[in-house]
Amino acid sequence: MTDGFAIFLDEARDALAALERTLLALESRPGDRRVLDEAFRLAHTLKGMAATFGLAAAAEAAHAAESVLATARTRGKAEPGELQTLLAARDRVEALVQDAGSVDPARGTTVRVDTVRLDAIVDALGELVVAKSRLEEIARDATVPGLQEAIDRLDRLAKDLHGAALKARMLPLSIITDRFPRMVRDLARAQGKDVDLLVAGREVELDRAVVEQLADPLLHVLRNAVDHGLEAPEERRAAGKPPRGLVRVSVLREHARVLVEVVDDGRGVDVEKVRARGVALGMLGAGDAARLDEGGALALLCRPGFSTRESVTATSGRGVGLDAVKAWVEGAGGSLRLSTRPGHGTTVRMRLPVTFALLHGLVVVVGGERYVLPLDIVATTLDLAAAREAGFAITDLGELLAAPGARRPRFAVALERQGPRVALAVDDITGNAECVVKRVHRRVAEVPGVAGATVLGDGRVAVVLDVAALLP
Ligand SMILES: Nc1ncnc2c1ncn2[C@@H]1O[C@H](COP(=O)(O)OP(=O)(O)OP(=O)(O)O)[C@@H](O)[C@H]1O
Ligand SMILES: [Mg+2]
Repeated sequence: MTDGFAIFLDEARDALAALERTLLALESRPGDRRVLDEAFRLAHTLKGMAATFGLAAAAEAAHAAESVLATARTRGKAEPGELQTLLAARDRVEALVQDAGSVDPARGTTVRVDTVRLDAIVDALGELVVAKSRLEEIARDATVPGLQEAIDRLDRLAKDLHGAALKARMLPLSIITDRFPRMVRDLARAQGKDVDLLVAGREVELDRAVVEQLADPLLHVLRNAVDHGLEAPEERRAAGKPPRGLVRVSVLREHARVLVEVVDDGRGVDVEKVRARGVALGMLGAGDAARLDEGGALALLCRPGFSTRESVTATSGRGVGLDAVKAWVEGAGGSLRLSTRPGHGTTVRMRLPVTFALLHGLVVVVGGERYVLPLDIVATTLDLAAAREAGFAITDLGELLAAPGARRPRFAVALERQGPRVALAVDDITGNAECVVKRVHRRVAEVPGVAGATVLGDGRVAVVLDVAALLP
């Protein structure tokens, strides 16, 4: 591929994305002069670009869009039917440009190979940080002049390098979120609903692996917001709401974590309906259902197989949405929380690490062995007796793990999760640690509750736990 063509592809993709955004804006503000002008300009630009590179069919589709927009400009507003035509024309241009671009796959391959190399560098640097910790432990008992200074310097260098390599793997969330407005709009349209999707924080950067893996869970949650949350325009009007629904995605970076929030202004979760469904599905007894409060109902939504849909539709009803989201988030060392206001909407909050390569953990001792719990799932730590008094449901971690060795549970680790307040009983808590998590052998990884392994400061290996897999 020539450089010129590569640049054309990049610019065409940008213009197509901008045109999509502009057309969606036009849908909610059909008479906005500035938006109309912008859409016209973009269609015109695309037409010119496609023609220059000999893509006649793409230029023709762009020309069709331009003509529709010219008419709309004269009229002073775009008609709903025209928007459908415009979006379809834009999609056609995109498909044609993509076809032209895929003739030369070299670009994609280059990107892939680079990532693999980068992963190897990050891995090696992680090892370096661990090796350095080991050296530090040894040096603690030695009295070699200058050794400590040399280690301190090594420490700084290793951490800088590791940090720089991690940074090189970061990608902005816009890579996935820029597709969302259109997808959400199409989904809503198919159900006769109107929606605006606002995304805040698309520039926030996370590890490539986190960004890539976040796409599916985020889509599940967005689909739910449209499907279960948003009401049809008439119903919204009757409830005194604007006919067009609003879904907001906001992403906020907090040091080593990221907070992803999806808020809809729909009907919220109907606890009464959840109770009835829970009983009908055989997931709850009548007595338990009567006692089920809002928190309990929200926890039930996250259980495998739960759905308030009675039949499976194209988008919902299999009940594998939220439980899969929860399993993924917790497996990634994060936490998931739902909250709702009947009649006003639902919020889904995910707290995630910005990278899987480095884990902020809490080191606990059970039966003489140390284990690492991801810090994101830890709400607080307290005395076992205090936890009992505070009404936590206590689960003995040693029992869960069938840990050998004499145990003396004295502390409790309260967990950050939906539903009843749960705390894990442990013998001791030795503190926080920044861990480089190593994938373990496949046979070991299949043991429930094992997320990986890490080398602690003293050079010994500790198991990193996947708490979600351990608890029901
Ligand atoms: N934003 C929301 N507003 C109101 N209710 C919701 C929302 N999101 C989820 N729910 C409720 O949670 C239930 C479970 O959701 P989940 O995604 O697990 O299953 P589902 O959407 O019914 O089916 P599917 O497996 O096909 O996604 C839904 O049936 C619905 O009752
Ligand atoms: Mg769903």
